[in-house]
Amino acid sequence: MQETSNMDWLGLTGCVCVVTGAASGIGRETADMFARAGARVAYLDLNAKAAMKNAAALAKEDGQTIGLGFDAGRPESIEAAAGAIQTQLGPVDILVNNAGILRPGDLAHVALEDWEMMMRVNVTGYMLCAQQFGRAMLARGQGALVHVASIAASQPQAFSGAYSAGKAAVAMLSRQLAFEWGPKGVRSNCVSPGMIRTPLSEAFYQAPGILEKRASIVPARRVGMPQDIAEAVLFLASPRAAYITGQEIVVDGGFSQALMGFAPRPGY
Ligand SMILES: NC(=O)c1ccc[n+]([C@@H]2O[C@H](COP(=O)([O-])OP(=O)(O)OC[C@H]3O[C@@H](n4cnc5c(N)ncnc54)[C@H](O)[C@@H]3O)[C@@H](O)[C@H]2O)c1
Repeated sequence: MQETSNMDWLGLTGCVCVVTGAASGIGRETADMFARAGARVAYLDLNAKAAMKNAAALAKEDGQTIGLGFDAGRPESIEAAAGAIQTQLGPVDILVNNAGILRPGDLAHVALEDWEMMMRVNVTGYMLCAQQFGRAMLARGQGALVHVASIAASQPQAFSGAYSAGKAAVAMLSRQLAFEWGPKGVRSNCVSPGMIRTPLSEAFYQAPGILEKRASIVPARRVGMPQDIAEAVLFLASPRAAYITGQEIVVDGGFSQALMGFAPRPGY
């Protein structure tokens, strides 16, 4: 199938979009894609310098993108970012909760500090951002939230401390928001990536043969790219998904459906 750069069909022109974790990986690609679709985009990240650099790279003459430093785990920081976005871009239409961290650890020994830090950024941060940006959406009676969860929300990801438990919480948070805010015009959905090559996962791919081994167990026969996730996020955020809320789109090349492939089956 042909690639196309025509994204007019999404109807995102002029929408004000906030993407957290937009300094890197999936967040950056998503924010860039919103900007290319004609949206006005706020790139938020702990890494303020990279967020600003990325935003500047996509800025048009009328200043459609801004980059801001913020900490998704700190309410006062989220509030400050929301104030700056309101002033510089106007009322927010779309929030993409994406900023996340991974602190590996087996459950027998995981440090409380690592557990709490992951829960704070990956779960509480999503709730706090939904609350802060969602209030204005509720007041206007329109808006869309998209949360980047993970296939780890439904498949236990071992030796990853609070990661799976946190992503499962995100999936439920999204559904609860959909129920509570649906009657007020605000939608909430999840995109759950499978194995995506980004700075978060890059260390794995440095080991010889890992990329090929991983690709071989995915029905699509490749590891995913940030663009694969961004495409699904843009769709769910857009008016094209106006009647979709409380749902999850799994973007994993079929990986989470491959379980039966591990059972030896002579002749196949
Ligand atoms: N890469 C994968 O294979 C994969 C798979 C499933 C889900 N995900 C999820 O996708 C999301 C993005 O991951 P990625 O792979 O692009 O990672 P990444 O490390 O490339 O990007 C994450 C960004 O979040 C920012 N961030 C971290 N803590 C923050 C905080 N407290 N406040 C603000 N920003 C903060 C980082 O600075 C970074 O720019 C995460 O939620 C991750 O759990 C990734």
